[in-house]
Amino acid sequence: MASRSALLILGLCLLANGISGRRLSQMEAMDQCAAPSNGAMKSLKADSTTAVWGYFYQGIEPAMVASSGDEIMVEMITHHAGDDYEKMIAGDPGVEDIYRWTPEEQTMAMRGAKGAGEGVHILTGPIYVCDAEPGDVLQIDILDLAPRKNPSTGKTYGSNAAAGWGYQFRAGFLDDDKREVITIYEVVEEDDEMYVVPDYAFRFAGGPTGYPGPTTPCATLNGSMPRTVAGENVEWSAEERIYSSTNVPCDDGNQTWAGYYYPGVITQHPTGTEDMSIKGKFKVPANLHIGNIGLSPAWDEAVNSIPPLPTGGNMDNKRVGAGSTLYLPVQVAGALLSMGDAHTAQGDSELDGTGVETSINGKFKLTLHKAGALPKFVANLTHPLIETPTEWVVQGYTYADFLNEIPEDPQNQIFALSSIDKAMVVAYNETRDWMMQSFDMTEDQAITAITIACDFGITQVVDGNFGVHALIPKKVFKMAE
Ligand SMILES: *[C@@H]1O[C@H](CO)[C@@H](O)[C@H](O)[C@H]1NC(C)=O
Ligand SMILES: *[C@@H]1O[C@H](CO)[C@@H](O)[C@H](O)[C@H]1NC(C)=O
Ligand SMILES: *[C@@H]1O[C@H](CO)[C@@H](O)[C@H](O)[C@H]1NC(C)=O
Ligand SMILES: *[C@@H]1O[C@H](CO)[C@@H](O)[C@H](O)[C@H]1NC(C)=O
Repeated sequence: MASRSALLILGLCLLANGISGRRLSQMEAMDQCAAPSNGAMKSLKADSTTAVWGYFYQGIEPAMVASSGDEIMVEMITHHAGDDYEKMIAGDPGVEDIYRWTPEEQTMAMRGAKGAGEGVHILTGPIYVCDAEPGDVLQIDILDLAPRKNPSTGKTYGSNAAAGWGYQFRAGFLDDDKREVITIYEVVEEDDEMYVVPDYAFRFAGGPTGYPGPTTPCATLNGSMPRTVAGENVEWSAEERIYSSTNVPCDDGNQTWAGYYYPGVITQHPTGTEDMSIKGKFKVPANLHIGNIGLSPAWDEAVNSIPPLPTGGNMDNKRVGAGSTLYLPVQVAGALLSMGDAHTAQGDSELDGTGVETSINGKFKLTLHKAGALPKFVANLTHPLIETPTEWVVQGYTYADFLNEIPEDPQNQIFALSSIDKAMVVAYNETRDWMMQSFDMTEDQAITAITIACDFGITQVVDGNFGVHALIPKKVFKMAE
């Protein structure tokens, strides 16, 4: 209930900051839930008023209301569109609106859980699901995903950023030539099949073509917003805008960013520094999926969008695509579903830090399972569960619930505690427990069945809370009644 007062304060604050966004008050959300549905598809377009940059937070006012049984459309805008402004932003009004950062105006002033880059994803939402309460389970059927075409070109491009948080920085480079490399991909159709094909690359640092980083107009907004349920403000100053713990000072009206500093900064690589040699070297069948889709955790502060949560979030599991269903445990009233970080392709591990980050439109069906009447296979759900046409997928992480398991400063500490070993233990335990319950098995039966029939995979090694998932083939096991 404390969150309700935070919602009110936030609402006033948005007005005070001159953001004209049309979000819904708690009261309006309730009213809309009570009104009879006219059966029309609800649609959430992405712009600066319906997107949130870099965090989940139970105090965000909903961008839309939906009920169990509704089909909805949601636009997702990539936070890597700044890697090629002309191809991914220019001429697309919703994307231009989100990225507007001029000396006079930043439409998305608040980037990150504390206004300073703690979280990077542009998340559309949250969507308030009528009647959802803690203990319920939200089922999200992903009906369709389609690349967003830039209306000015009719084309879709995405970016793969081999960035400083990628695993190659842990492993080391040949010749110790550390660099960040952006590869822009085009999404193409050939013979009714969709592919992503590399178009060109450019570098930050390293080698003859590497450049130190872009210069952008200084942020002009000083800000303050309630970002704790207790109503405490997060404040920031335009003059001392700190991102990822480093001050990026304002010099004569410009800020200069070192390297691939923060997704969302327009990278403006100098003309002539493109490396075209990758063009035509390979093409990858597209596998559209949503990197970050989740419900708000019950936490009294805004939560960085990078480490994944029991309520989903940044799982970066390539199986979260069309034809799949996601089951997520609800922790707050209204569930508060948000999504973004869509990819047109990515392999398990997401090794260099990103997928092919692409703006994508999605169509979904929502089904709410109430706590008293949960199907057995989601009755004790404490982690995301994915159902594909052929498999059940149990999603484990280094910490199943890092916010509640790491005693001190979990939102920062999680990044130093990343471990695939621990994620394997968690994924195994969750798989064992889930199979015992869902297939009426003993522990010994589950152990042999897992060993003989299931594959474990490394979901991602780049999101702080590393991911390991188990693939459980549906045709092998029978669901318990
Ligand atoms: C922002 O705050 C700083 C102090 O933190 C102040 O010096 C500056 O004048 C303020 N700028 C605006 C535009 O209000
Ligand atoms: C700031 O950046 C703009 C645009 O890149 C440029 O025109 C201007 O000269 C820069 N100002 C300074 C003082 O560097
Ligand atoms: C895994 O399950 C075992 C048995 O319940 C338990 O002792 C162990 O602490 C669990 N490990 C983790 C990381 O949850
Ligand atoms: C699931 O939860 C119920 C009720 O809390 C409990 O009785 C049951 O043992 C749990 N099952 C598993 C496999 O944890």
